[in-house]
Amino acid sequence: MIVSGKLVRADAGAIAPAGEALRRGGLVAFPTETVYGLGANAFDDNAVAGVFAAKGRPRFNPLIVHVRDLKEAALYGEFSDMARELAAAFWPGPLTLVVPRVKDCALSLLVSAGLDTVAMRAPAHPVAKALLIEAKLPVAAPSANPSGRLSATRASDVAETLSEHVDFILDGGDCPVGIESTVIGFDDGMAVLLRSGAISRDELEPITGTLRTLDKSHIAAPGMLESHYAPRAMLRLNAREARDGETFLGFGPYVPKNISNLSASGDLREAAANLFAMLHKLDMSGAKTIAVMPIPHEGLGEAINDRLARAAAPRP
Ligand code: TXA
Ligand code: MG
Repeated sequence: MIVSGKLVRADAGAIAPAGEALRRGGLVAFPTETVYGLGANAFDDNAVAGVFAAKGRPRFNPLIVHVRDLKEAALYGEFSDMARELAAAFWPGPLTLVVPRVKDCALSLLVSAGLDTVAMRAPAHPVAKALLIEAKLPVAAPSANPSGRLSATRASDVAETLSEHVDFILDGGDCPVGIESTVIGFDDGMAVLLRSGAISRDELEPITGTLRTLDKSHIAAPGMLESHYAPRAMLRLNAREARDGETFLGFGPYVPKNISNLSASGDLREAAANLFAMLHKLDMSGAKTIAVMPIPHEGLGEAINDRLARAAAPRP
């Protein structure tokens, strides 16, 4: 693993220079409650373009802009009553809201990739919050991983893949949730689930009513692309046992102790937190095919199964 001087513990002494780097147009990787983000000044086209270049995104997909709170978000996006209610209920936290850009919006057009909407969320992680306060800027940040690959939940994973492109990697330990934010958009005032994620459908539907999902022909979010979040190894899902040459990834109590297990107690929250780190570890160990046990499709299981299905999808 390549660790450079850029990987620093995210204490008060590191936040100030990281905020300064963002203001100068640099890139800073930082922990959020979901996954690590690769941050840039959301006003600065060059800095945002640097994010696309660092990730090797094949085209300009829109990015999530991280803000301190709804008051700041409302400077850049138009919030309907339902959008406000969702922000009030879940911010700071792992919910991203896609709303129309305000007229003469000061954010770089690149963060919206040409759309007239902008995705925003207020993260809950103390390091992300401190960085936003220090930078005094909205921060555009996709997950801190090369495009199409596994999201990073540990600073060392970011260091392995993106070191040369960033000014700083703030190490705030493992991301507690471990799976990306839920992305909600609006169509004719109705909420649409653009990407399942850390906030489950059952938590949202009391506010949104039954959530529609987009059909596959309508790719509004790259998180909706078939192959995404992919390790190098192939994945076989709903596996009951490992076949010859496969590496097993278990879930629940009936898995031998020496086998990787997303959650021995069958806890979906723990499984979400472990998902990317365990896939990454098995990938690094040289596994050719990872056979993954079935995960119940309830609560956070919807987001876990979504990521597994994409990781297993045929590669472009
Ligand atoms: O938890 C997270 O959301 C992490 C942390 C760092 O905040 N970020 C993250 O960003 O996962 P990224 O870029 O990997 O995923 C952003 C998702 C994509 O699926 C993107 O297409 C969607 O949000 N998105 C962003 N802006 C959008 C827009 N204007 N319309 C529709 N979808 C949008
Ligand atoms: Mg991503």
